[in-house]
Amino acid sequence: MEIRKVGVLGCGLMGSGIAQVSATAGFDVAVLEVEQRFLDKGFAGIEKSLAKFAEKGTIKDPDAIRARLKGTTKKEDLADCDIVIEAIIENVAEKKKMFASIDPIVKKEAIFATNTSSISVTELLSAVKRPERVIGMHFFNPVPLMKLVEVVKTIATAPDVYETASEFGRKLGKVPVRTSDKTGFIVNRLLVPYLLDAIRAYEEGVGSIPDIDNAMKLGCGYPMGPFTLLDFVGLDTTYYITHVMFDEFKERRFASPPLLKRLVMAGWYGRKTGKGFYDYADPNNPVPGNF
Ligand code: CAA
Repeated sequence: MEIRKVGVLGCGLMGSGIAQVSATAGFDVAVLEVEQRFLDKGFAGIEKSLAKFAEKGTIKDPDAIRARLKGTTKKEDLADCDIVIEAIIENVAEKKKMFASIDPIVKKEAIFATNTSSISVTELLSAVKRPERVIGMHFFNPVPLMKLVEVVKTIATAPDVYETASEFGRKLGKVPVRTSDKTGFIVNRLLVPYLLDAIRAYEEGVGSIPDIDNAMKLGCGYPMGPFTLLDFVGLDTTYYITHVMFDEFKERRFASPPLLKRLVMAGWYGRKTGKGFYDYADPNNPVPGNF
């Protein structure tokens, strides 16, 4: 099947990024949110990102991209989408509710993709009457820059749905990797224990936050140290992922270290709240915490 129109559920960090790259690749896009103010916030982020690309000349016609992007609060506007990508809150019940509510509205041959990073894609199948058309498409933050999409096949996913989703990912300028529906897929299976180990190393006095960050940046060539990356991804998101992964594997390497829990309980979620392992009162000069 050919994809022409893309629906994106949720206009947060990931949803707005997915909407942006889809419109940039030439697709018509409808982005659904519960309230206009969430659309406004997401579209403001898209504007910033488009401005950066326009400045560098990597996008030719930002107005044409804008024209392809429509925000909406009405599920009916998704009816003629060929693929719908869910990027709402990382919560099984909410995701199921969302898929169930749009299933009777969106045309029956459309693909339902989820951008979940840790929830079982298979668990979402029961919410819809098109289980063979459900797939995972896991993008990475910041979506406009990160080249990977994990394409997650469940035991029910039809082969043509897998092929169409992978081809769609390539059209977005991403490199699709195939993975099965095992909690954390490829990236988080490897990334999460590394990030949690960095916190444990700090708790054990191995090094300070900036020293551990610099060690991994300068010693291993990582673009961001683990604490900068944790603040960037969001400590609340990481904390949630640790629960899903620990629940699945029952291994210490996936368990949340006490410091992560304390920061989350305090509402220090990282960059998005202005405070996490670093304090972003001056965003250009983050000050590391000393816990
Ligand atoms: N849109 C457009 N341009 C952007 C942008 C955006 N959203 N964000 C940054 N840029 C541009 C900047 O303007 C800058 O441009 P110039 O070089 O012209 O100045 C350029 O990209 C580089 O940005 P910075 O100088 O700010 O910083 P950087 O060199 O460190 O690059 C980065 C930024 C690409 C994010 C890089 O730090 C990086 O790759 N970090 C790791 C990110 C990562 O690991 N993401 C995955 C997280 S895990 C996840 O998402 C999944 C999950 O399930 C948890």
